[in-house]
Amino acid sequence: MAGGIVVDVVKSYQAYFAGQWQNSESKETLDIRSPWRHEVIGSVQSVTKNEVDKAIESAHEVQEDWANLSLTQRGQYLDRWADEINKDVNNLAMAVMDEVGKNFDDAKKEVLRTVDLIHYTVQEALHMNGQSMRGDGFPGGSKDKVGIITRVPLGTVLAISPFNYPINLSAAKIAPALMAGNTVIFKPATQGSICGIKMIEAFDRAGFPAGVLSLLTGRGSIIGDYLTEHQGINMISFTGSTKTGQHLSEKSIMIPLVLELGGKDPAIVCENADLDRTAKNIVSGAYAYSGQRCTAVKRVLVNDKVADQLVEKLEPLVESLKVGSPAEGNDIVPLIDDKAADFVQGLIDDAVTKGATLITGSTRNGNLLAPTLLDNVTPDMDIAWVEPFGPVLPIIRVHSNEEAVKIANESDFGLQASVFTQDIDEALEISRGVEAGTVQVNGRPSRGPDNFPFLGVKASGLGTQGVHNSILSMSREKLTVLNLK
Ligand code: NAP
Ligand code: G3P
Repeated sequence: MAGGIVVDVVKSYQAYFAGQWQNSESKETLDIRSPWRHEVIGSVQSVTKNEVDKAIESAHEVQEDWANLSLTQRGQYLDRWADEINKDVNNLAMAVMDEVGKNFDDAKKEVLRTVDLIHYTVQEALHMNGQSMRGDGFPGGSKDKVGIITRVPLGTVLAISPFNYPINLSAAKIAPALMAGNTVIFKPATQGSICGIKMIEAFDRAGFPAGVLSLLTGRGSIIGDYLTEHQGINMISFTGSTKTGQHLSEKSIMIPLVLELGGKDPAIVCENADLDRTAKNIVSGAYAYSGQRCTAVKRVLVNDKVADQLVEKLEPLVESLKVGSPAEGNDIVPLIDDKAADFVQGLIDDAVTKGATLITGSTRNGNLLAPTLLDNVTPDMDIAWVEPFGPVLPIIRVHSNEEAVKIANESDFGLQASVFTQDIDEALEISRGVEAGTVQVNGRPSRGPDNFPFLGVKASGLGTQGVHNSILSMSREKLTVLNLK
């Protein structure tokens, strides 16, 4: 197991402007602290508005040439990029572990998943053919009118990613954008910038034409609005919190947006659920990467006829989770920062004060929180509605499937939901009733596999990801009508 990168001299990482690695004219850098080593592991540039302008200008200068390359030629660049990432998988996994505190195995899975995603995106784009339509397909229409529908790029895509999947959720935007013929301005999360930079070092080694992508580091609160409102941006693909996503959608001007935002995914447990299978899925779904996943199980809505049995199965599973440093392969790792840990602890304390039963957990060492299980949670407790993004799971007892669906839909969020039952008709009925992008039957919520559509409704997002849908969202139809006579 990797002990992490030994940091003697704190490296200052450069930004990537139009194919050139450069320090920012601002001469300002942002220190990146490791959430578990509790030390600065590097610093990144704080780019200026002027540098944003330059990067977007060069993106526009080369976009047409990039779009005029054949799909195969673009694909060859991306396949080389994926190969470069694959060659460097352990170094990248180490960077993910160090910068965002994911344990090494999960970090390596994220990097390898990204290699597959980029290769798959190339293949998907190579097989996304256009369409032709006959005019006489519509009453009164002429057969001498033939519509040829192709897809064309939008121009320059702004890709903004969150901290929790610094490699995968960045490439999930960059790869489809480039394959569709766009150029890209990539703004990684500050706590995830070093991972983003190392991924783009692999991109640079793949030899892409200069200007096709620029990587701009800097606090979103400082440079974010300028990027979002910039006239040179033709589409924004954002993954992050609902708060930032809503702010961004207010700022953006008449351009396509794909927003993948927060979640409060329920696990609905019916009376005849297989409780062993259910408990395993709920625990891995709720506590993987300390719950810092948008698709984490963030509440259990369990039929009270089986609630006691479920809690009896959940408790030992939660208590068997290993807690500690990501470098020792632990399941529960330190949260991204102390502020996040304070927020989660606040939700636990609020629930317990209001009468929730603390089954296990609620102990803490700095930003390392023990996995916490709360029973008898009621609607007056914040934890019933708020996204904790931490290792805490509230159990809400219900009397019927109807009540479960009602409570599920009372949330502002609508990313995913899980229903556990051995009755497929019951599962389908609940799936029809729940307002969410995806309903998982007898499985934990998850974004993957990455060829599946991935979307959130209500406060969980706008638009759809997943490779095919991302290529569609980063391009548009172009109709050419042949008037044969
Ligand atoms: P966040 O605080 O919203 O940050 C996301 C990104 O937005 C970061 O790159 C951030 O930059 C940038 N940003 C901040 N202010 C901005 C502004 N005014 N304009 C433009 N960009 C701005 O989210 P996070 O803490 O990184 O990620 C956790 C959240 O993301 C959770 O709510 C989680 O549910 C959600 N998430 C959703 C999905 C999904 O697919 N639905 C996936 C992963 C995470 P800085 O880092 O510099 O602030
Ligand atoms: O929060 C990241 C989100 O995209 C989750 O991905 O594959 O862990 O469900 P996954």
